[in-house]
Amino acid sequence: MQTDRSTTAFQALIGDMRNYWAKELYPAFAAHAQRKLGGAPDSAEQAEAALQDDPLYGYYAWLERHIQRMKYSHPDYGLKASFARNRAEVEARLSGRDGGTVPLQLDPAMEIPQYYRDVDIHQHPGNLAGDDIDGFVYQASALSIHPNTKRFEVHDRFADLVRSYGDFRRILDMGCGFGKSTTPLARTFPEAEVLGIELSAPCLKLAAVEGAELQLRNLAYRQADCLRSGLADESFDLVTSTQLLHELPLPEIDTVLAESFRLLQPGGWAMHLDFRSRHTFEAFLMRGHAQRNNEAFMADFDRMDAAAAFARAGFVDVEVTPFAEREGATDPDYPYWRFPWALFAGRKP
Ligand SMILES: C[S@@+](CC[C@H](N)C(=O)[O-])C[C@H]1O[C@@H](n2cnc3c(N)ncnc32)[C@H](O)[C@@H]1O
Repeated sequence: MQTDRSTTAFQALIGDMRNYWAKELYPAFAAHAQRKLGGAPDSAEQAEAALQDDPLYGYYAWLERHIQRMKYSHPDYGLKASFARNRAEVEARLSGRDGGTVPLQLDPAMEIPQYYRDVDIHQHPGNLAGDDIDGFVYQASALSIHPNTKRFEVHDRFADLVRSYGDFRRILDMGCGFGKSTTPLARTFPEAEVLGIELSAPCLKLAAVEGAELQLRNLAYRQADCLRSGLADESFDLVTSTQLLHELPLPEIDTVLAESFRLLQPGGWAMHLDFRSRHTFEAFLMRGHAQRNNEAFMADFDRMDAAAAFARAGFVDVEVTPFAEREGATDPDYPYWRFPWALFAGRKP
């Protein structure tokens, strides 16, 4: 759905600023930090202590937080204000009048977990679960948060990687958002039945309309908590998530891995795509990003022994592997800012 002309122009400026931040300011700051630290820091904490009063770091950090803030919350041209002005159009689109929707099961009685209600994640005002406009707000925001990647690029590449592990037929995508992660799975596995589950009804409604527009007949959505999905034991041969684990408190990560294990048939795979810093400077950047983007659990997730958590849940052949969201992105000399994407995977014996 198009935003009005002024909002579109403002959001294009936000996109340009994000590109400047990632492609020009970040390399300048990283080189400056390297010189100041005398090489790789011993730890994220050491880098933080050495750089916290540094003006270039202050500029880098301020811009990271405030580009995102303006994108969502500018009183006139922010995404929240803009979609709120266009409620009628939002509701018309969500009714799926022309193309209908793919099967969608909502649960108005579902309890939204406390950890989720407590934080305006990503600085998204009011979070994603309340207002029908929020699926559109989140979708529009996602366009600029991963600079230089095309609309479905990360998720298409992830689906291709998953394909190299097997020709899966019963696929569950946990925390599917507005369907950006689920759609590529449905396209890559046309013979499979693909189910996306998610807490946010506004996101699911948008996902279901877009699934119908894309004429995906092997796709369905359901409002469910991935910590206790209510789905039957051993009903999937693949359980995925993308960018879900880092949004959960640590005890809930154990719960979601146990739930993944329960839902899988023997021999099935759990493949969760998320972030994992590869060195101490990256860990410093991730800690700062977590604070600046209202990611309450991201720093804990970055530090946790994820392979041990998979093993505790019963998985074997566990791997935590860097994932290239675009060609060359995991090369050590890749010059621009990026999330350190990683695949967290394990097989149910
Ligand atoms: C960063 S988004 C990623 C969405 C999608 N997978 C993608 O990559 O575009 C994380 C999603 O997980 C959902 N989520 C968080 N906790 C959840 C839970 N306990 N059960 C189901 N979904 C959850 C959020 O609502 C959000 O849509």
